[in-house]
Amino acid sequence: MVAVGNNRRTMADPVLTVAERLRPTFAKIAGGQESDPVVRRSDRADAQVNGSLALAKVLGKTPREVAQMVLDAADLSAVCSATEIAGPGFINITFSNSFLASELAVAAADTRLGVRLSPAPEVVDIDYSAPNVAKEMHVGHLRSTVIGDALVRMLEFVGHRVIRENHIGDWGTPFGMLIEHLIDLGEAEAANELSVGDLDSFYRQARTKFDASDEFKERARARVVLLQGGDDETLRMWKLLVGESTRYFDRVYRVLDVLLTSDDIMGESAYNHLLPEVVERLKKSGMLQTSDGAEVVFVDGFVNRDNEPLPLIIRKTDGGYNYATSDLACVIDRVERLGATRILYVVGAPQAQHLEMVGVVSRKAGWVPETTQMVHVAFGNVLGNDRKILKSRSGEVVKLDALLTEAVERAGTSVREKNAELSAEQQSEIARQVGIGAIKYADLSTDRIKDYVFDWERMLSFDGNTSPYLQYAHARICSIFRKAQIERQSVRSVTPTLEHEAERALALRLLQFDTAVWDTLDKYSPHRLCTYLYDLASEFSSFYEHCPVLRAESEAQKMSRLALCDFTARVMERGLSLLGIEAPEQM
Ligand code: ARG
Repeated sequence: MVAVGNNRRTMADPVLTVAERLRPTFAKIAGGQESDPVVRRSDRADAQVNGSLALAKVLGKTPREVAQMVLDAADLSAVCSATEIAGPGFINITFSNSFLASELAVAAADTRLGVRLSPAPEVVDIDYSAPNVAKEMHVGHLRSTVIGDALVRMLEFVGHRVIRENHIGDWGTPFGMLIEHLIDLGEAEAANELSVGDLDSFYRQARTKFDASDEFKERARARVVLLQGGDDETLRMWKLLVGESTRYFDRVYRVLDVLLTSDDIMGESAYNHLLPEVVERLKKSGMLQTSDGAEVVFVDGFVNRDNEPLPLIIRKTDGGYNYATSDLACVIDRVERLGATRILYVVGAPQAQHLEMVGVVSRKAGWVPETTQMVHVAFGNVLGNDRKILKSRSGEVVKLDALLTEAVERAGTSVREKNAELSAEQQSEIARQVGIGAIKYADLSTDRIKDYVFDWERMLSFDGNTSPYLQYAHARICSIFRKAQIERQSVRSVTPTLEHEAERALALRLLQFDTAVWDTLDKYSPHRLCTYLYDLASEFSSFYEHCPVLRAESEAQKMSRLALCDFTARVMERGLSLLGIEAPEQM
């Protein structure tokens, strides 16, 4: 009965199904003219067909007349229990319960739960996380990591090939002073400081010396020259710095439970060999200019504060390359070597101008085919209660690993309280899932472009639009089955009957999972999927309140309701997992 993916018999979302059904009707009435049924969800009915208005203009009829023609020509009896022409010529539609039930059965039999595969799978390159070597990861990197991870999971789920790239800052002038500081400290001591994640203090010490001592400054400068010249001993020490830092990053990634691994590291240094080529190509295409001794590209449409043309600096006066140069090299590498057809940058909003300029220059240089999208998936700041950028109590950048540890500890308190009967081991596993989930969800559930206030109480609350609330909805369903000693698998072939209003509302919501995933990907906005899951959990709550499951009126009703429960739990679990959040079966 079920074909998976693009060959599905119908689409899971009934709104899409009706739009598909109406397409030939509209085409016939339009007589070859361009026309689209435009079906939308509606408050007045289950859905509303809006396309008659546009078609009326073309045909020289009133929209109500066209709406009537559509209803006469289309056979909607199998899917609708009521249709009504309303207002200026909308068609209000109420889906029949039997249609919803059969759509639900189709979606439930699908391992993808009704979510369509992409009709045109792409190679998507995604640049995210990107902390800097020998510097503390800050909450901005947390945002990039969490948002990027959710997007990777969703893009893969709909069938794209995803290339993860962690563009760590592992090159450039600061490495001169960092290496000299490493020499001063002694390698063993330096490694020790870095491996415990004391990156900021290492960086600060180096910086202080650099600012205070001319002798140190000179050494640092000479060291950069050695590094760029490929001196073996310098490279060895550089690798030591990079190695300690990336091991630390990796520990954070493991705790955070994201897909990034050390294989995904493609730091700035990896593009070194391409930098002369960037200059060469820009020169050939006549875009490179000299300005105050530096080699630059002036980018149309970009000006500085004084309204003067703003250049992208490719090569500095001292011959060194820039952050922008390696980003240009990245574009060449991603398009030409990796065959990316879409490039995403999950990078904070302050870098918008930089990325935009990189985009304009690489397109103008002809490196990026027209069909290849470059998207800046920008995000806002994480704020403290004072509405300023989140800082620790002592006023320093918040250390990510400390933050994650605190989340798990805080979650542990309520988990132990609520699950006294579980073993200590089980409790701490659940605390981990709840704590990490809370941090991720707090980040993902607000529109990414906005700032959000980091609030422990709120994110760990079991009420409201939070991860614990959603995880709890899932766990509660698992416990219904545990209590009744019924295998969840055993109700999967049951087609539910939707007698009660709350059952119907739940079914409608379940069938919107596909749309929720695709809307989320459309705008790279994980908060849309969060909102959907929150609505689903609320709908489930109301269903559970009104419709007894284990004490249903008949065995058939019980099985039907259990089928709704099971499908809800599957959508919840899958939805959370697309966000990178685990769903414990008990909590
Ligand atoms: N390392 C940079 C930072 O911490 C982010 C890099 C983003 N990616 C890029 N291709 N520029 O700000």
